[in-house]
Amino acid sequence: MSTHKSRFTSTSDTKVGILGAGAIGQLLFHQLTATGCAPYFITRGGNTRQQTLTFTSIENNTSNLSAELFSSVSQSDTHDALAQVMRDTQVIIVCVKAYQVNEAINSILTRIPKDCHLLLLHNGMGPHLQIEKQLSTQGLSVGTTSQGALKLATWHIQQTGCGSSQLGHASGPQLPNRLKDLLLSAIPQSQWCEPVLPLLWQKLAINAAINPLTAIEQCRNGALADIRYRPIIEMIISELVEVAKLEGVELDKLVLTNRVYEVIKLTANNFSSMHQDVANKRQTEVGSINGYIVARARVHHLNCKTNEDLYNQITKIESQYPI
Ligand code: PAF
Repeated sequence: MSTHKSRFTSTSDTKVGILGAGAIGQLLFHQLTATGCAPYFITRGGNTRQQTLTFTSIENNTSNLSAELFSSVSQSDTHDALAQVMRDTQVIIVCVKAYQVNEAINSILTRIPKDCHLLLLHNGMGPHLQIEKQLSTQGLSVGTTSQGALKLATWHIQQTGCGSSQLGHASGPQLPNRLKDLLLSAIPQSQWCEPVLPLLWQKLAINAAINPLTAIEQCRNGALADIRYRPIIEMIISELVEVAKLEGVELDKLVLTNRVYEVIKLTANNFSSMHQDVANKRQTEVGSINGYIVARARVHHLNCKTNEDLYNQITKIESQYPI
């Protein structure tokens, strides 16, 4: 695997759009602004406007920033404003949930400049397969991050963990080095990795093992260290390794299992994102986590019983949410 180190100097002329203003989108906004770049948000609702963002660091220092928000929803005035700002945008970072990626990109597709680059950053896998077919001239990169951020209020986030981020090429033209350098200097502990897919599969294994089990058992990540979960965790990983192999990605089951247990230990006190989604009766990302493993297995006429069972249990829980 090759990695790219940042040699970045100045950024103020670089326009970066952030599609999705969730916790990770806002964290990236703060990190990009700190590098001297002028990012802006593309959101679904509201009008084009200025918004004050509050950021609380891990050390509990709080600061404010002003952000420009552009709505992608059909409102004649905001449409024009978004089209105008997108005209000289060089990168759009897509920070919505995996199941929202298609719709979010489709809402801006006709306005994406021909030489703009897209970076998908979400839990799970899958959306890039659809998006790469829809892009004509634009390049696509994908990434995974274990940076942690929590929304304390709509426009107030707290950074909860300084994880690493791995980014890499998916399809079309490569992200120019100047823009790679910008992203790598803005995002702490980030690396440009080629090939990046094995790293996405590795993160998928972590999510496939931890997320549904903690949501079903209603426990913190650390509870999965109990020996009684070992057989199911091993089955989840074995199935994933088999599917990844058929997809051309070789993974080492033991290395992956050790990594899953390391994350269980490192995040022992956390409630996983799927646990939180189920607790708050929100749609989960299971479709792009265990569901993705099952879907890719089907393409290769393979059965992934354990992942399929977990997928079915989570979708059943979702179907029982009050309307
Ligand atoms: O989705 C999550 O919650 C996180 O990716 C992880 C690593 C499982 C930790 O909670």
